[in-house]
Amino acid sequence: MKKLVIAVDGPAGAGKSTVSKIVAEKLGINYIDTGAMYRAVTYKCLKEGVDISDEKVVSDMAAKSDIDFRDNSIYLDGKSVNDEIRTVEVSSNVSDVAKIREVRYQMVEVQRRIGEKSSVILDGRDIGSYVFPNADYKFYLVATAEERGNRRYKEMREKGFEVNLEDVIRDIVKRDEIDSNREFAPLVKADDAIEIDTTGLGIDEVANKIIENIKL
Ligand code: DC
Repeated sequence: MKKLVIAVDGPAGAGKSTVSKIVAEKLGINYIDTGAMYRAVTYKCLKEGVDISDEKVVSDMAAKSDIDFRDNSIYLDGKSVNDEIRTVEVSSNVSDVAKIREVRYQMVEVQRRIGEKSSVILDGRDIGSYVFPNADYKFYLVATAEERGNRRYKEMREKGFEVNLEDVIRDIVKRDEIDSNREFAPLVKADDAIEIDTTGLGIDEVANKIIENIKL
């Protein structure tokens, strides 16, 4: 099999990470959750009491951080932080961290390095439009805000977070707005991406739609 880069972009809660994990497993390739990288930086800033609006301090914090993927887990400075990066606090601050250009440069460098080494599926917001404009395959997943909010709500309740549906939907819509309107590498569908509306579709159906398009 030749080395493949598959980009999966779209707004929050469109099913990107769950589906990308399944596709990665089926194809026997690596999966990189690029949102987890921005979340890890956000988590570290919050833990260290850094003012998120201070772009210089946040980007210095990112530069000092060792972010790595191993066995489907994200490691921050040598410690697995899979759960720590999914809190409501991290979720509501991460878009402000992700809009900082210097932070993005650093994360993108890591993502490109990984994509150059081996076959990989990456999910994010700017993978097909900016990180890998020449990706072998590009997908753009969408779903209604209600459905995306419902999925996130269920996920968070299952993890034991006390959240209410209206807040989750409001947070998702606000994040999409910041992600879509930021100056540098915003959330956008690449012209050559295949759009899949996941509203009302099951995870396996979406994964199969992606796999159908991939010629090994
Ligand atoms: O996919 P997620 O919800 O874990 O992403 C967290 C945040 O990071 C979200 O606000 C968008 C941002 N992000 C980004 O700007 N670029 C990426 N490639 C991935 C995520």
